[in-house]
Amino acid sequence: MNNKYSPLVNSHFIVGRGSINFIRQLDKKRAVVIYDGRILSDTIKEQIIKLVAENNGECRFIADIRNEPFFSDILKAADDMKSFDPDLIIAIGGGSVLDTAKAMHLFYEYPEMSMEDALVPYNLPKLGVKAIMVAIPTTTGTGSETTSAAVFMDQLTKAKHLMLSNELIPAYAILDANFTDSLPKTIAANTGMDALTHALEASVCKTASPMVISIAVGAALDILENLESSVSSRHQDVKANAREICHVAASLAGVVITNSCAGLAHGFDQPGAYFGLPHGMVCGLLLPYTTAFASPHASYAKLAKRLGIEGDNKKELCQKLVDYLMEFSKKIGIPSNFAEAGIDESMFMAKLDDFADLAISAVATKLSPKLPSFQEAKKLLIDAYYGNQPLVISEL
Ligand SMILES: [Fe+2]
Repeated sequence: MNNKYSPLVNSHFIVGRGSINFIRQLDKKRAVVIYDGRILSDTIKEQIIKLVAENNGECRFIADIRNEPFFSDILKAADDMKSFDPDLIIAIGGGSVLDTAKAMHLFYEYPEMSMEDALVPYNLPKLGVKAIMVAIPTTTGTGSETTSAAVFMDQLTKAKHLMLSNELIPAYAILDANFTDSLPKTIAANTGMDALTHALEASVCKTASPMVISIAVGAALDILENLESSVSSRHQDVKANAREICHVAASLAGVVITNSCAGLAHGFDQPGAYFGLPHGMVCGLLLPYTTAFASPHASYAKLAKRLGIEGDNKKELCQKLVDYLMEFSKKIGIPSNFAEAGIDESMFMAKLDDFADLAISAVATKLSPKLPSFQEAKKLLIDAYYGNQPLVISEL
């Protein structure tokens, strides 16, 4: 969330199938690997060991992360890391693995730092003195490999906390689509919608620079043109190509939220955490409603035109984009509303005021082009519960 005139920050990208082999070029001697044991095969483990060994380096697999980590797990793993004294941290897995590695890196380099201090936004000391971090995402969507954020659970309260600093951005993001080929359909769909939401929201963020908008619109277009094939094409070569394009676009969507901010769907995503729905699914579900609310907007109109949508003015283009997004989500297999997602009506309505309160106070909401009132936030959530058609109602 930099201001308009800050330099663009991002990881160094290494892109292409087989690009995991880049590890050998780093010429590091002591590598720790943070991973998800469910997806990291012995073959890949051996490949990483071999790549590090090519420079007479040693490799240790220290943390198998399968869910959102607790603070206590992170501190323990950072202690294990300290005893090995690595100069390279390799994180290979989904968003939780990458987020964990970012925090372990911090506590490895600054063991005395308190968790309280670590959670003060944009206040971390310089990272990368003892070790550099390489992120290898195996899902396509969170963008964690290039974002300044890491999300954790508090073990006692089960509340989510956010660590935020550009120091957390991994030095390298290796975008090797070979790791995405075995992603199950639903994960490809949900995480793809998360990435699409990042791109669309960054493109209209109040702090978005022209460069952010350009990257964001391009990334959104790539995802809209390829996600359906990435999720469900029966032709392996078509699916593999689409997954590769989406993998890159999702990282670029991470770059743009790091350099501006996510928006309304992220501000309104509390029902997801509360009812245990996947984050990407909730983003995709909310996207037509939040896009309609934030419309009309020049970036949405630009994207609509590039999709071949015709319209006489911004409002018409944006409404057609909203309708397009609704149909697109359905094709990807995302529920169109919370009722369809199986959320109980009375339970949802009992929490409505809380959800609306949290939504209007979220940073992502405040940086979106149009700030909803409490009543407007409630209406948006009610529409998203029942599936009322989202309408672009005003000209900004
Ligand atoms: Fe997200």
